[in-house]
Amino acid sequence: MALALSHVTKRFGSTIALNDISLTVERGEFICFLGPSGCGKTTLLRIIAGLELAEEGTVMLEGRDLSETPARHRNFGVVFQSYSLFPNMTALRNIGYGLECRRKPRAEIDARAAEMLKLVELSEHGNKLPSQLSGGQQQRIALARALATDPEVLLLDEPLSALDAKVRESLRLEIREVQKRLGITTIMVTHDQEEALTMADRIVVMDTGTIAQLGTARELYEQPTSRFVAEFIGRMNILPVENNLFAGQQLALPSDKQGATMIGIRPEDVRIHAGAAPSDPGLIPVKLRNTIYLGHLAHLVLDVGDSGKEIVAEIPGHACKAIVDAPHLAIEMRPETIKVLQ
Ligand SMILES: Nc1ncnc2c1ncn2[C@@H]1O[C@H](COP(=O)(O)OP(=O)(O)OP(=O)(O)O)[C@@H](O)[C@H]1O
Ligand SMILES: [Mg+2]
Repeated sequence: MALALSHVTKRFGSTIALNDISLTVERGEFICFLGPSGCGKTTLLRIIAGLELAEEGTVMLEGRDLSETPARHRNFGVVFQSYSLFPNMTALRNIGYGLECRRKPRAEIDARAAEMLKLVELSEHGNKLPSQLSGGQQQRIALARALATDPEVLLLDEPLSALDAKVRESLRLEIREVQKRLGITTIMVTHDQEEALTMADRIVVMDTGTIAQLGTARELYEQPTSRFVAEFIGRMNILPVENNLFAGQQLALPSDKQGATMIGIRPEDVRIHAGAAPSDPGLIPVKLRNTIYLGHLAHLVLDVGDSGKEIVAEIPGHACKAIVDAPHLAIEMRPETIKVLQ
């Protein structure tokens, strides 16, 4: 394991920014801290970087306690949301700056800066000032600068959020590719779930200073343990359950989840039966309230019996017409697609 946080706690006055955070990051892993604004992502990253002091808890790198190590001696590469390049220095000088501070020989600095410039595919732009580069190019220079000192860990705080959607998407892939090629342990903060899902090996979902759940994109999507995670990653119908019943239907819940009060089902897991007799066992009668046709797929907003509840179902766009024309509609919720939430 590369990095280990244990029981990290941080308050700002009466605000508990981080509450007893423990997690480990494997060597070469790409981890995302994902969560809504104010949940503590930046604070946690800054504590790891040594830019903020934890009140309690430890940060260990390869078994070494970093508590007494100041930020400049931690050998972490850091990239922030605002590019924070020096405006009066060329791209190459910016990249070599960390090595300059370490008083490396000029020839070594120049060679390394050129190598890093090539890594981020900007070899043609080395002599430009930041103001002569696009936002995406500036952020690639910031990445090259962070990597130039050969850091043990790369820390990225929303590095893509100031860029427009197209650039953001291509840079996601580029950063991930560079990270994999170098095999560098990386932590990236984001509040964009798509960014986390496409880039990270594992995602730490954070909620008001705590870890709500930690897992791969797939684990979080398929087995969310709480309503917070279920609704934060993708879309989820949240339904109340009483005595294992929903809308008068007996639900087949796992034996250790009997007595659950809330379940979730993804829109794409809701099976629609068009023209089914309303009394078919296992089916819950619904009425179509609204259809949102999106071309390749459609969202159906359904009223569930007289329960006052609604369910959204996602179906292929071409299946829409038959459903809209059907005299009766019912849904089926297969047990394996039901998620028991707390
Ligand atoms: N220097 C500070 N002084 C006082 N409170 C702070 C300070 N830094 C952060 N906080 C508070 O700590 C909490 C966590 O802030 P943090 O910046 O870590 O959130 P975040 O998850 O990065 O949010 P965002 O997505 O908006 O960047 C917030 O309630 C914030 O107001
Ligand atoms: Mg932040």
